[in-house]
Amino acid sequence: MFQDYPIANRWTDAEHVVIHPGDCLDLLRSIPDNTIQLVVTSPPYNIGKEYEKRLDLDLYVAQQAEVIRECVRVLSPRGSICWQVGNYVDRGAIIPLDTILYPVFSGLGLRMRNRIIWHFEHGLHCSNRFSGRYESIVWFTRSDEYTFNLDPVRVPQKYPGKKHFKGPRVGEYSGNPLGKNPGDVWIIPNVKSNHVEKTEHPCQFPVELIERLVLSLTHEDEWVLDPFLGTGTSIIAALLHQRRGAGAEIMPRYVELAQRRIREAMAGTLRTRPMNRPVYDPRLAGQQLTEVRPRAAAEEEQLALLEGREDYCVDEDR
Ligand SMILES: C[S@@+](CC[C@H](N)C(=O)[O-])C[C@H]1O[C@@H](n2cnc3c(N)ncnc32)[C@H](O)[C@@H]1O
Repeated sequence: MFQDYPIANRWTDAEHVVIHPGDCLDLLRSIPDNTIQLVVTSPPYNIGKEYEKRLDLDLYVAQQAEVIRECVRVLSPRGSICWQVGNYVDRGAIIPLDTILYPVFSGLGLRMRNRIIWHFEHGLHCSNRFSGRYESIVWFTRSDEYTFNLDPVRVPQKYPGKKHFKGPRVGEYSGNPLGKNPGDVWIIPNVKSNHVEKTEHPCQFPVELIERLVLSLTHEDEWVLDPFLGTGTSIIAALLHQRRGAGAEIMPRYVELAQRRIREAMAGTLRTRPMNRPVYDPRLAGQQLTEVRPRAAAEEEQLALLEGREDYCVDEDR
């Protein structure tokens, strides 16, 4: 890519890359109204990851609402907000976070365009419910006049040779030669131990997931903002496509990680999984069956059963 923008730690419209090392509300309050074309983020899920305190759900929603309100204020009139979330788990019962956050977005006048299901194969193995293998991205726009570019994100057709068999266009190819609409179920590997983008962060976005949103919902040189930046993925996806990127991250070691990855992306040395690469299929790859569960995980499951932990899940990648 070979761009060499400085990484600023305060927002000004003259910058290309901004990482605020601190609370996202401080960054958001420094951004003028109607400035950002795409807000895309994966907020803390309130499930007790190392960077979050487990909160009462009402308090969690109130805190999210404060951030969302500021995101709406900074959003440009043709802009979009994409909130990527999974489930809150309360003593074995799941509460999909998008369902409890929907009233916050709609109450601020936003219009929902898609609830995208992001399906992936790797995650926790649950013993008392089906293992969760998707999360969602809820996409809202500020108005009915919004940017949506389908052509850059079309995917190969299933039957590219298919032709009209009757009517005025008989004999002509029936599909769009640029490919088809990717739909609202996206099968994209999540970033687990053997993913090329894996860092020490427990829940990174795969870059290709955000590239699809950047390409379809923004134009070159527009701003992409991630209030919960983590390892900098949203800024990386923006820069890979000549957009500008800003974000906030509260944990200093993730700030450093994001800065490093963004510099590598600008230098063209960051390894990312390319968009639209087919998902690895061990049967097609002709792999022999292998032991998939490490012994330590099996032992831990046994211990959990003995302790009677109700919502026990084993991470298959340990
Ligand atoms: C789910 S992770 C996001 C990971 C990110 N999508 C990536 O690709 O790396 C949420 C991040 O938000 C950060 N965070 C939590 N509260 C924050 C706050 N109030 N302001 C800024 N960052 C915060 C956490 O440290 C964590 O890295």
